[in-house]
Amino acid sequence: MDDLYREHLLDHSKHPRNHGTLDAPDCEAEGKNPLCGDEVEIDVALADGRIASIRFTGHGCAVSQAATSMLTELVDGMAAEEAAALPSQAIIDELGIPLSAMRVKCAVLGLGTLKVALHRGAGTPLPEEWGVDDEMVWG
Ligand code: FES
Repeated sequence: MDDLYREHLLDHSKHPRNHGTLDAPDCEAEGKNPLCGDEVEIDVALADGRIASIRFTGHGCAVSQAATSMLTELVDGMAAEEAAALPSQAIIDELGIPLSAMRVKCAVLGLGTLKVALHRGAGTPLPEEWGVDDEMVWG
Protein backbone atom coordinates (compact mmCIF):
# COMPACT_ATOMS: atom_id res chain seq x y z
CA MET A 1 0.00 0.00 0.00
CA ASP A 2 2.83 2.35 0.91
CA ASP A 3 4.26 1.81 -2.58
CA LEU A 4 1.06 3.07 -4.17
CA TYR A 5 1.20 6.25 -2.11
CA ARG A 6 4.87 6.72 -2.89
CA GLU A 7 4.14 6.39 -6.59
CA HIS A 8 1.29 8.88 -6.24
CA LEU A 9 3.66 11.30 -4.53
CA LEU A 10 6.34 10.88 -7.18
CA ASP A 11 3.79 11.36 -9.94
CA HIS A 12 2.62 14.67 -8.44
CA SER A 13 6.20 15.71 -7.85
CA LYS A 14 7.20 15.02 -11.47
CA HIS A 15 3.95 16.18 -13.05
CA PRO A 16 2.52 18.85 -10.74
CA ARG A 17 -1.18 19.60 -11.32
CA ASN A 18 -2.44 23.15 -11.64
CA HIS A 19 1.10 24.42 -11.99
CA GLY A 20 1.51 28.05 -13.07
CA THR A 21 0.00 31.41 -12.23
CA LEU A 22 -3.33 33.16 -12.79
CA ASP A 23 -3.52 36.47 -14.65
CA ALA A 24 -5.97 38.07 -12.24
CA PRO A 25 -6.13 36.11 -9.00
CA ASP A 26 -8.62 37.20 -6.34
CA CYS A 27 -6.11 36.27 -3.70
CA GLU A 28 -2.54 35.07 -3.53
CA ALA A 29 0.21 34.30 -1.06
CA GLU A 30 3.74 33.01 -0.83
CA GLY A 31 5.00 30.62 1.78
CA LYS A 32 8.55 29.73 2.67
CA ASN A 33 10.04 27.20 4.99
CA PRO A 34 13.08 29.10 6.30
CA LEU A 35 14.69 25.88 7.53
CA CYS A 36 15.34 24.74 3.96
CA GLY A 37 14.39 27.71 1.77
CA ASP A 38 11.63 25.81 -0.03
CA GLU A 39 8.82 27.99 -1.33
CA VAL A 40 5.38 27.90 -2.87
CA GLU A 41 3.26 30.66 -4.36
CA ILE A 42 -0.47 30.14 -4.75
CA ASP A 43 -2.97 32.10 -6.85
CA VAL A 44 -6.71 31.61 -6.37
CA ALA A 45 -9.68 32.81 -8.37
CA LEU A 46 -13.04 32.72 -6.60
CA ALA A 47 -16.60 32.54 -7.93
CA ASP A 48 -19.69 32.50 -5.73
CA GLY A 49 -17.55 31.86 -2.67
CA ARG A 50 -15.91 28.82 -4.21
CA ILE A 51 -12.43 28.14 -5.53
CA ALA A 52 -12.97 28.45 -9.27
CA SER A 53 -9.32 28.17 -10.24
CA ILE A 54 -6.08 27.60 -8.40
CA ARG A 55 -2.46 27.58 -9.58
CA PHE A 56 0.84 27.19 -7.82
CA THR A 57 4.52 27.57 -8.50
CA GLY A 58 7.43 26.83 -6.24
CA HIS A 59 10.56 24.89 -5.66
CA GLY A 60 11.71 22.52 -3.04
CA CYS A 61 11.49 18.98 -1.82
CA ALA A 62 9.28 16.38 -3.47
CA VAL A 63 6.90 16.29 -0.48
CA SER A 64 6.26 20.05 -0.40
CA GLN A 65 5.67 20.30 -4.14
CA ALA A 66 3.65 17.08 -4.47
CA ALA A 67 1.52 17.97 -1.43
CA THR A 68 0.77 21.38 -2.92
CA SER A 69 -0.14 19.76 -6.23
CA MET A 70 -2.49 17.33 -4.44
CA LEU A 71 -3.92 20.22 -2.44
CA THR A 72 -4.88 22.10 -5.60
CA GLU A 73 -6.89 19.08 -6.77
CA LEU A 74 -8.45 18.61 -3.35
CA VAL A 75 -9.73 22.18 -3.01
CA ASP A 76 -10.69 22.87 -6.63
CA GLY A 77 -14.38 23.82 -6.50
CA MET A 78 -14.49 23.76 -2.70
CA ALA A 79 -16.13 26.57 -0.73
CA ALA A 80 -13.37 29.04 0.14
CA GLU A 81 -14.44 29.01 3.77
CA GLU A 82 -14.14 25.25 3.95
CA ALA A 83 -10.71 25.29 2.30
CA ALA A 84 -9.55 28.03 4.68
CA ALA A 85 -10.41 25.76 7.60
CA LEU A 86 -8.96 22.49 6.25
CA PRO A 87 -7.05 20.62 8.93
CA SER A 88 -3.43 19.66 8.26
CA GLN A 89 -4.51 16.06 8.53
CA ALA A 90 -6.44 16.41 5.26
CA ILE A 91 -3.25 16.87 3.27
CA ILE A 92 -1.32 14.38 5.37
CA ASP A 93 -4.03 11.82 4.51
CA GLU A 94 -3.73 12.70 0.82
CA LEU A 95 -0.02 11.96 0.94
CA GLY A 96 -0.74 8.72 2.75
CA ILE A 97 2.82 7.95 3.82
CA PRO A 98 4.35 8.12 7.29
CA LEU A 99 5.85 11.57 7.87
CA SER A 100 8.42 12.69 10.42
CA ALA A 101 7.80 15.99 12.22
CA MET A 102 10.16 17.65 9.75
CA ARG A 103 8.29 16.17 6.80
CA VAL A 104 4.95 17.38 8.20
CA LYS A 105 6.29 20.92 7.74
CA CYS A 106 6.96 20.05 4.09
CA ALA A 107 3.46 18.61 3.72
CA VAL A 108 1.64 21.66 5.08
CA LEU A 109 3.66 24.39 3.35
CA GLY A 110 1.14 24.62 0.51
CA LEU A 111 -1.90 24.34 2.79
CA GLY A 112 -0.62 27.09 5.06
CA THR A 113 0.06 29.30 2.05
CA LEU A 114 -3.44 28.66 0.71
CA LYS A 115 -4.94 29.60 4.08
CA VAL A 116 -2.99 32.84 4.14
CA ALA A 117 -4.23 33.64 0.63
CA LEU A 118 -7.87 32.84 1.40
CA HIS A 119 -7.99 34.67 4.73
CA ARG A 120 -6.20 37.63 3.21
CA GLY A 121 -8.69 37.65 0.34
CA ALA A 122 -11.65 37.45 2.70
CA GLY A 123 -10.18 40.01 5.10
CA THR A 124 -10.47 37.54 7.96
CA PRO A 125 -7.73 36.89 10.53
CA LEU A 126 -5.91 33.60 10.45
CA PRO A 127 -7.36 31.32 13.10
CA GLU A 128 -5.13 30.90 16.13
CA GLU A 129 -5.13 27.16 15.60
CA TRP A 130 -4.55 26.84 11.93
CA GLY A 131 -2.23 23.90 12.01
CA VAL A 132 0.85 25.52 10.57
CA ASP A 133 4.11 26.11 12.32
CA ASP A 134 4.99 29.63 13.43
CA GLU A 135 8.44 29.15 11.95
CA MET A 136 7.03 29.39 8.43
CA VAL A 137 7.32 32.70 6.65
CA TRP A 138 4.40 34.08 4.66
CA GLY A 139 4.32 36.88 2.18
FE1 FES B 1 11.89 22.11 2.61
FE2 FES B 1 10.52 19.96 2.49
S1 FES B 1 12.66 20.09 2.85
S2 FES B 1 9.74 21.98 2.57
